[in-house]
Amino acid sequence: MTKPVKQVHLAAHFPGVNNTTVWSDPRSGSHIEFSSFAHLARTAERAKFDFLFLAEGLRLREQNGEIYDLDVVGRPDTFTVLAALAAVTDRLGLAGTINSTFNEPYEVARQFASLDHLSGGRAAWNVVTSWDAFTGENFRRGGFLPQHARYERARTFLQATWDLFDSWRGDEIIADQASGQFLTEAKAGAFEHHDAHFDISGQFNVPRSPQGRPVIFQAGDSEEGREFAASSADAIFSRHGTLAEGQAFYADVKGRLPKYGRTPDQLLILPAATFVLGDTDADAAELARQVRLQQVSGQTAIKFLEQLWNRDLSGYDPDGPLPDIDPDPGENTIARGRASVRMYRDPLATAAQWRAKAAERRLSIRELIIEVTGRQTFVGSPATVAEAINTLVQADASDGFILVPHITPGGLDEFADTVVPLLQERGVFRSGYEGPTLREHLGLAPLKEETSPPSRLPCSISSRSAQAPPPPRRCGTASTWPRPRNASATPDTGSPSTISIPASPGPPRPSSWL
Ligand SMILES: Cc1cc2nc3c(=O)[nH]c(=O)nc-3n(C[C@H](O)[C@H](O)[C@H](O)COP(=O)(O)O)c2cc1C
Repeated sequence: MTKPVKQVHLAAHFPGVNNTTVWSDPRSGSHIEFSSFAHLARTAERAKFDFLFLAEGLRLREQNGEIYDLDVVGRPDTFTVLAALAAVTDRLGLAGTINSTFNEPYEVARQFASLDHLSGGRAAWNVVTSWDAFTGENFRRGGFLPQHARYERARTFLQATWDLFDSWRGDEIIADQASGQFLTEAKAGAFEHHDAHFDISGQFNVPRSPQGRPVIFQAGDSEEGREFAASSADAIFSRHGTLAEGQAFYADVKGRLPKYGRTPDQLLILPAATFVLGDTDADAAELARQVRLQQVSGQTAIKFLEQLWNRDLSGYDPDGPLPDIDPDPGENTIARGRASVRMYRDPLATAAQWRAKAAERRLSIRELIIEVTGRQTFVGSPATVAEAINTLVQADASDGFILVPHITPGGLDEFADTVVPLLQERGVFRSGYEGPTLREHLGLAPLKEETSPPSRLPCSISSRSAQAPPPPRRCGTASTWPRPRNASATPDTGSPSTISIPASPGPPRPSSWL
């Protein structure tokens, strides 16, 4: 039997505080001014993308005790930006990364419910646990929670916000001017949530939003992160964008769904992907080479190497060989707050691999760093890139991609004008939005009224009668968190056709798109 053809999902990642941006390019604009956000959002909406995505970084990174000035620094607040974007777009989903480690559920639930109202049902929340103690120093609690505790807090945090979103059913406000009755029940929005992390009760003050709850994204990659996604998320922002890695990740995470009573179509896998387009494949390859040279100057190469070596290497020549000295495997004091530090759990082993690669190919420090931090997932003519994207999606390496342009804010324009029409011609990408909400763009079924995490089953509403107000929702423990079997229905998988060439994915990449 022929496999049904999947629809490709595409999203635009606003290039944030990271080295994937070529800020020094004459075409690059501000990553702070609203006009840049508006430009990218309008381009993404014109191209019928599912959503615009904002990562979160709550502290400027430091290297050697100084702000890492080769990186792009500064990031406006997520909710403020997304709320403003809601006003200049009509259909585009608006996804914000907000961590569960340093925030409070009531506040986050208010913010997302408000965004969902303001945008008419386009809000998504990327729930991250955030990885560095350094960021934690900005907050009341200071420091950091160990990873296990962060995920436990994330689970119960999400459950608490879920309780808040669901504390309104959506039919409580009647605003009957003739009778003078505004609410059907005085206890609308009543909630209670008690567990080891949160002890909260009251009445939630944002009535049910158009989507009921924001779409939930997850981005962690560990065992805990994958389980968290399988139990609770609608989509994963992953770093596995190549064919083999993507297929392994896809199979692994989707394979975890049945134990939570979920089906593969209820969780989308959307890796980050970069791209370089040219008139021909050869043009694109040359452009890609130039972009990499812009992204990794000699100075940047040394900074990168210091992050793994955990030593001051400023005396080394970036055009010379790797240092003879080994990395310092102790606590990384040189690159505080760098997401990529986490990638190198075993710095000595990574350094040995890098040395072998450099020796085999006679690479200088700069050439090696260009090689091992290679960030270009798709390089080629529009036809080649469209083919590669579709092939990866049809081969179940992903359900689509979150594209990270390297030029802010115009880096998506060419993709929108040249690659998207080719995907539309193939019948694998929409030409018009199916509906107004992000859930619809993603092919996720609307929430059912009775949908609630199992933890809430003991306190779920048995009667929807307006005359019989429900008691405050009382919640269970984090151990009962996974969703129930009826969490959502099968999405539209698109029209049938066939797929063609194998993809030529780029090398694995350390992640630093915070
Ligand atoms: C693709 C990807 C994107 C991420 N984006 C963010 C982000 O924007 N902000 C943030 O604080 N953490 C981000 N994280 C970090 C995760 O929230 C998580 O803290 C980290 O991956 C550690 O969890 P893990 O060991 O399960 O991967 C991201 C992780 C991945 C894999």
